Amino acid sequence: MNENFFYQRSEKVCLCKDVTEEEILNSIKNGNITVEAIADDTEATTGCGTCLPEVEKILKNSRYYNK
Ligand code: FES
Repeated sequence: MNENFFYQRSEKVCLCKDVTEEEILNSIKNGNITVEAIADDTEATTGCGTCLPEVEKILKNSRYYNK
């Protein structure tokens, strides 16, 4: 296995729907500031659901999240 394999795997947040952290951050920037909105936009979390905590974490850590 080459280094790219691990790099690509690590930046994928949702393996079911093939969604990267960057795609989720772009979705948040475009105004999708709830997990449901991110799911509608990117399909992340709409498969097995195991990526849900990670998507929530990315959203909460973003500056667009209203505490
Ligand atoms: S990994 Fe995201 S829905 Fe399964």
